[in-house]
Amino acid sequence: MRGVLRGVIDPELGDNVVDLGMVRQVSVGDDGQISVEVALTIAGCPLRGQLRRDVESQVTSLPGVSSVVVHTAEMNADERRSVMVRARWKASQRPERTDISSTTRVVAVSSGKGGVGKSSVTVNLATALAARGLTVGLLDADIWGFSIPRMLGLDGRMEAEGTSDEWLIVPMEKKVWPGRLEVVSMGLLTEGEDDAIMWKGLLLNRALQHFVENVRWGELDYLLVDMPPGTGDIQMGLARLIPRTELLIVTTPALAAQKVAARAADMARKCFLRVAGVIENMGTFTCGCGQRHAFFGEGGGRRLAEEIGAPLIGSIPLDPAVAAGGDSGVPVALDGEGPVAAAFATLAERLVGEIVPLVEMTGCTARLLGRVEAALDGGPSIEEA
Ligand SMILES: Nc1ncnc2c1ncn2[C@@H]1O[C@H](COP(=O)(O)OP(=O)(O)OP(=O)(O)O)[C@@H](O)[C@H]1O
Ligand SMILES: [Mg+2]
Repeated sequence: MRGVLRGVIDPELGDNVVDLGMVRQVSVGDDGQISVEVALTIAGCPLRGQLRRDVESQVTSLPGVSSVVVHTAEMNADERRSVMVRARWKASQRPERTDISSTTRVVAVSSGKGGVGKSSVTVNLATALAARGLTVGLLDADIWGFSIPRMLGLDGRMEAEGTSDEWLIVPMEKKVWPGRLEVVSMGLLTEGEDDAIMWKGLLLNRALQHFVENVRWGELDYLLVDMPPGTGDIQMGLARLIPRTELLIVTTPALAAQKVAARAADMARKCFLRVAGVIENMGTFTCGCGQRHAFFGEGGGRRLAEEIGAPLIGSIPLDPAVAAGGDSGVPVALDGEGPVAAAFATLAERLVGEIVPLVEMTGCTARLLGRVEAALDGGPSIEEA
């Protein structure tokens, strides 16, 4: 019986239900009636229907079985702990496909709508994190509409190293004392617009994968990913390539944008990506005379955060200095005096200090995997979370 049940795989933990310790009890009646009790990490696990069906079909395939009843129950703390041990071991057996260390916190900056300031927020947040002494990778996942190089004043080309069989792209380094940025963008691969088009056929549809798998990222504290507008393939691709990615959703204070950003949050749920928080951008503008103007309305960030149950981790004011910094290649976050720089410094501080990576038990086992990977490298354990 246990042999056939080993054919039932928990797709999120990538192992069979027997070895994961999820099969609590199997009883066999005289009349060939089988009863199986399966313990789930949480009672409301969305996979329970699938697991139940898989158990039923495996057990029914055995000779002499007249019927199968599958009961589901919730694991206790001990059972959950041993699932973690097993999953941790399983995760350690997986071949390393990227150079991104499992201790690197991966944060994608996303929204459901274009032009709300994702790239500006990514660049300035990365800069503010580096100014805290951290090493921050910056992956420009906006393959078609890259803007990170311009915003950082980078115009060189990334080098590749290694042999033609086994080459790695070397990110472009930008010092932000006392830390640094390691930047990868389509804009640092191509010579110009025409070459960008040439790359289309060669690389574009797998560019994100290359940027995750074929880059010598080195030891990063954070990897920030600037997402393209929309909720399409790149988002799904990132979820597949780096499932532990957390999302920061950028919205403007306007209700319409907030509604669109909610779409991004919905996409996050579908991809099993965790939303670490909401950032409101283009908030209240304060003019020279000290008067405050809410050009884009008010409260959109708070409303979205409430709606999706994630914290509002910062509000960046509307300020021409953001655009000016983007155009000049000197991020406004470097301007120690200004209100926008202060807002980004606070945002970085909250991300590092307060917004701890989530373990959303509500999302079932996939949410545990990130924690498993962190635990492999001595991160906090599930009990501490
Ligand atoms: N807080 C702000 N105050 C003033 N201007 C801003 C602010 N944030 C962003 N901008 C400006 O808004 C424009 C759009 O910003 P950005 O390119 O960062 O948005 P995006 O969401 O990345 O856009 P896309 O969807 O095209 O990638 C830019 O000109 C930028 O300088
Ligand atoms: Mg952008």
